[in-house]
Amino acid sequence: MAKRKIIAIDGPSGAGKSTTAKALAERLGYIYVDTGAMYRAIGWKTKKEMILLTEESLKNLCSITDIRLDRSPTGVGMKIFVDGIDVTEEIRTPEMGMMASAVSAFQCVRERLLELQRGMGRNGGIVMEGRDIGTVVFPDADIKFFLDAKIEERGKRRHLDLKSKGMGDDLVRVTDEIRKRDEADIARTLAPLKKAGDALYIDSSNMTVQEVVETMLKEIKKDEG
Ligand code: DC
Repeated sequence: MAKRKIIAIDGPSGAGKSTTAKALAERLGYIYVDTGAMYRAIGWKTKKEMILLTEESLKNLCSITDIRLDRSPTGVGMKIFVDGIDVTEEIRTPEMGMMASAVSAFQCVRERLLELQRGMGRNGGIVMEGRDIGTVVFPDADIKFFLDAKIEERGKRRHLDLKSKGMGDDLVRVTDEIRKRDEADIARTLAPLKKAGDALYIDSSNMTVQEVVETMLKEIKKDEG
């Protein structure tokens, strides 16, 4: 039987990581983990409890907060719970994206989530996507991808995605929001967004999800020799 691998997918906002990671996991019969949702979950609680954005306050918050990921009963997606509350839908707003990015710069938050993420990948058979999976969470991952796309395209995709969820924000604002978030994620000191040296770079600007997944599957097959 083929080894159940750890597959890391990193990249900026709106590059299509979640959609492709989910589809890839489905094809391989692997677990799919969206680590951004975990940062959004911490961001959600920080906002709800009006916690100060300081290392001390967030450390306390992390120590008393229960984050749980469950496989969605309908397919390969996952549901995320904070202290038993299902926040899967609520965390998908642009505001929660910004909150996630803000809390993700703090060491205590990263340490707490790193532990959870490594635990999930212990037995392999996982497609994990985020910003630092190939560089920090699993530097020895079997296969690494860095999924990118032009900013205009990423803005368009995120805009469509939000519209489908009834959040009719305008395109310019959405594009600006992801640009700012990427800048912050790239500039932070801890586990910044960057391509791992051994990751395969994929520019998905002119590719369909299907084409990206096929490219990834080809790379995985190549690795199996
Ligand atoms: O993938 P996303 O848009 O849901 O991520 C939200 C934020 O969480 C992102 O702007 C930065 C942070 N994040 C991170 O720092 N490290 C990860 N592995 C995943 C997300």
